[in-house]
Amino acid sequence: MSAPAILVDDVTVHYGEVLALNGASLTLERGRVCGLVGMNGSGKSTLFKTIMGMVRPDRGSVLINGQSPARVRKTGTVGYVPQSEDVDWGFPLSVRDVVMTGRYGKMGLTRRPRAEDHRAVDHALERVELTEYADRQIGQLSGGQKKRTFVARGIAQGATTLLLDEPFAGVDKRSEATITRLLRELADEGATVLVSTHDLHALPSLADEAILLMRRVLMHGPPEEVLRPENLAMAFGLDVLDRSETK
Ligand SMILES: Nc1ncnc2c1ncn2[C@@H]1O[C@H](COP(=O)(O)OP(=O)(O)OP(=O)(O)O)[C@@H](O)[C@H]1O
Ligand SMILES: [Mg+2]
Repeated sequence: MSAPAILVDDVTVHYGEVLALNGASLTLERGRVCGLVGMNGSGKSTLFKTIMGMVRPDRGSVLINGQSPARVRKTGTVGYVPQSEDVDWGFPLSVRDVVMTGRYGKMGLTRRPRAEDHRAVDHALERVELTEYADRQIGQLSGGQKKRTFVARGIAQGATTLLLDEPFAGVDKRSEATITRLLRELADEGATVLVSTHDLHALPSLADEAILLMRRVLMHGPPEEVLRPENLAMAFGLDVLDRSETK
């Protein structure tokens, strides 16, 4: 049997005194789109960064297709669309430059793109419908175009696992539909997609399965089940809200 696409086992992460993840565990199979939901500060971005190997857990382990985060960062099998707040949009890079960074792992030390790298970048830009924006500085894009730029980077690098941290934040319905369709196509081609979102209404049309996070995985199952009011109350602390309102 092949290893799961993503295996997170009992991961705990602190930032100084702050406990961001506390015994988080999940398994994701290939070809699935999984929605990650949880309140602000529940550890979604930390979970992505831990899977990427950008944050080192105090305890527990992460394997992607059976390999360590450090290894897959070298091979480029994981594509990462960071939360907008985590990107320096003033950086003097064009859309094409950002997408080309997805090819670095394949270029060797000189980092001189070859014909196949240019082809892969052009193809990725076409897929996210950004060809005409290729030479624009990344700060001069709309919210949806910014997200699609990073999705294109993942496509160009040939990632088989894609992590998207709130790709729908600040994005209009049309861009949201474009990204949703693209993620579905990539999953149908065999990619595994983990995507965090605050758009709970869109979850059933976006994802095959969903995870409720609150420092650990509270629930992992079909979106309809995860979205039941009692489960959302548990994850978003709405019961606490109700009690405080009746005081
Ligand atoms: N670099 C950091 N240094 C210190 N604390 C941090 C850092 N990054 C995150 N935290 C804290 O860790 C916890 C989890 O943050 P994280 O960004 O993972 O949450 P999130 O679920 O992505 O939230 P949001 O929905 O707002 O994006 C929060 O309490 C946050 O304040
Ligand atoms: Mg976040």
